[in-house]
Amino acid sequence: MPLDNALKLPKTAPLSPPPAPLLISSIIFFLIEGERRERIRSNGMFVHKPIQSPLFDVLTGKPQARRPIWLMRQAGRYLPEYRDLRRAAPSFLDFCYAPAMAAEATLQPLRRYDFDAGIIFSDILVIPDALGRQVRFEEGEGPKLEPLEAASALDAFSEAKLTTKLAPVYEAIERTRAKMPAQQSLIGFCGAPWTLAVYMIEGGGSRDREKSRRFAVERPGELAEVLDVLVEACAVHLAAQVRAGADVVQIFDSWAEGLSEASFAQAVIGPTQRLVRRFQELAGPDVPVIGFPRGCGWQLTRYARETGVAAIGLDTSFPMRERARAVPDGVATQGNIDPLVLAAGGAALDAAVDEMLRFAGERHVVNLGHGIVQWTLPEHVTQLIARVRQSEASFATA
Ligand code: CP3
Repeated sequence: MPLDNALKLPKTAPLSPPPAPLLISSIIFFLIEGERRERIRSNGMFVHKPIQSPLFDVLTGKPQARRPIWLMRQAGRYLPEYRDLRRAAPSFLDFCYAPAMAAEATLQPLRRYDFDAGIIFSDILVIPDALGRQVRFEEGEGPKLEPLEAASALDAFSEAKLTTKLAPVYEAIERTRAKMPAQQSLIGFCGAPWTLAVYMIEGGGSRDREKSRRFAVERPGELAEVLDVLVEACAVHLAAQVRAGADVVQIFDSWAEGLSEASFAQAVIGPTQRLVRRFQELAGPDVPVIGFPRGCGWQLTRYARETGVAAIGLDTSFPMRERARAVPDGVATQGNIDPLVLAAGGAALDAAVDEMLRFAGERHVVNLGHGIVQWTLPEHVTQLIARVRQSEASFATA
């Protein structure tokens, strides 16, 4: 049977107006949805784009209404309401995989503070968990994983397995986006392939990372196999977060520190470049990527130039007055107040904000040089934001 007959559509159907109930429901939908966000089509995929998001605009090089601010670990234990919520889940990963709770934790700092973005409440270690590496978080001890001894111990990558396991993260993103104001971005994230490989090889956090650094030098071919799986897993996870409602993504390379130039190129630059390219193949070219190669020192110029990120997250050790020399034109920056200065507050915090703003340039996202520490007083975050906004007001009237 021809398709038209099967659907009982007259030949003129596409030209005639939609039936009244459909028209009314479409108008209602666009009044609600259209006001909240614009959807841009990218490579066959819908990207939720908040209307006039200062973060999205600064990352894509458009003039921004104001300087965007968000903070790494802006949700978490320094907030009393987070500590209350967290008590309801038996383990940290159960908490990450409970969409209503993860959405609520993401929204908590947005209710308190004048931030320009939320970051979905989750963890970088959900990827090793979804790859079957048995991740546990032990109270006061940090994460523990089954140590990866050889590339052959890693299962073949299955996209369906990963996205099924991580479906609660995507549901949390949908729920969060639905409750966020139009001008705020929602950031999706993943750990960088190297940082995830470090956790997997070491079996947890490690100060000197001897086992993983030796793995890179002594078994480069095997490391490449592990990194290839992680590149694909990270790209798929980031693209799925965009599909669910994230409009910006960040790659956390928390262990980019202390590598030789050769190891840095092999373990950080190459895989990040492939990840950004693969992510853009899956999600389209319109979603800006922020790269955060923590502790990479001198190698940040090469990272910014070669990986394809829209912005580079500067860690605490970077002297902002070197920004114009170190960061190539066309790459935005993010950072880099010392989280310990935020925790201290007072005149030292105001001075650090002023120093950062003096050299940060136009395409800059206010943030910390690493995550908020748990003993930070919530009022100090208010102080940081007020100081930035005050400097903008005096700039506008100058
Ligand atoms: O607000 C946000 O930034 C979003 C949520 C977020 C968490 N972890 C929540 C979390 C994000 C973006 C992360 C990223 C993350 N996780 C990184 C990269 C950033 C960095 O810090 O370098 C890393 C390395 C991890 C791995 C991880 N997760 C560790 C080492 C720990 C233990 C640390 C500790 O203080 O115990 C976690 C647990 C974790 N992730 C907590 C939170 C709020 C604390 C656990 C809890 O509340 O019980």
